[in-house]
Amino acid sequence: MTREPLLLTPGPTIVPPSVLEALGRPTDHHRTKEFQAVLKEVGEGLKKVFGTAQEVLILTSSGTGAMEAAVANLLSAGDEAIVIRGGKFGERWGEICEAFGATFTPVDPLWGKPLDLKALEQTLKQHPRAKAVFATLCETSAGVVFDIRGLRRAITAAGVPALLVVDAISGLGADSFAMDEMGVDVAVSGSQKGFMLPPGLAFIALSPRAWEAVSKSKSPRYYYDLNLAKKAWADTDTPWTPAISLIIGLKESLKIMLAKGIESFTAGHRADAEKLRADVQKMGLELYADPACASNAVTMIKVPAGVDGKELLKQIRAKHNIVIAGGQGKELVGKVIRIATMGAVGPAEIQAGLNAVEEVLAEMQVKNG
Ligand SMILES: Cc1ncc(COP(=O)(O)O)c(C=O)c1O
Repeated sequence: MTREPLLLTPGPTIVPPSVLEALGRPTDHHRTKEFQAVLKEVGEGLKKVFGTAQEVLILTSSGTGAMEAAVANLLSAGDEAIVIRGGKFGERWGEICEAFGATFTPVDPLWGKPLDLKALEQTLKQHPRAKAVFATLCETSAGVVFDIRGLRRAITAAGVPALLVVDAISGLGADSFAMDEMGVDVAVSGSQKGFMLPPGLAFIALSPRAWEAVSKSKSPRYYYDLNLAKKAWADTDTPWTPAISLIIGLKESLKIMLAKGIESFTAGHRADAEKLRADVQKMGLELYADPACASNAVTMIKVPAGVDGKELLKQIRAKHNIVIAGGQGKELVGKVIRIATMGAVGPAEIQAGLNAVEEVLAEMQVKNG
């Protein structure tokens, strides 16, 4: 088999040919008029993808870097926060808060289930000093999308001035998102999922209220000092050497995402994800996430009893050169598989993945008797 592995994982995702070509161009210097023109163009494109009138800052890191930047710039040691945890990435928000000496109260929906917005409202009423609610658009480890508008409504109903901070690392471009219209104060994302790039860029946008919090935060920061990034961005620049090639690639991937508008790009993934969920059930397999909160970025499928999910994925890769993700967290390793419907993954790739799952599963079930 000579072709590249077909990535159906929820990051990294397939990099389309036009983006690959751009990534392979010789490196230009970043403090030039030419590169500034690229920064200007990607800056405008990012605003459209985020659905915001605010500037979207580009950081050189994986997505977690932007999560850390959010916490380090918004909170100080001793501050209180609320963290919505419905999987591994929600848990990560709590871990980062702790690393910066902030205390947090968790609101924990069951993995794969929707959040009880009343429970969030109650928790906020009990913690009126909470500076921020940390949430996730698509909880990639559970295949769940959170109701971001509902979170904003719950914060408003509780009468608490907490900021709403959303990890849209895997959801952006697949699950509907519009930062300003949804009342989100801080949104973060990363390059290797819906943006169809290799890992290495993170994005962060802040509302005027969030920038006020940045001016008050006393947490230590240097590389991730967003004031520096904001100041440089005002001059169409970055404080540190940016990942030049990735940003040149981003210009191409944004062209794909915005060719017919971001809503149309997202709608395509919604249609793909809906068909995938229906096809999985027709195959006699069970979905993990409650249909009320199933994400359109990633679909989590339960591995039938008696089948080793890790072995299933190993054989799919060996026999079909297709990479599908397994479960995260000790309860789910070997028990579920996850197929992404984000970025450049379309109907043909999804069908190839499903065919491989069906074939290898049948072989394993025959062997197991
Ligand atoms: C929802 C979510 N948050 C955070 C991350 C972490 O991003 P990174 O691995 O780019 O640091 C991921 C990556 O899988 C994710 O899916």
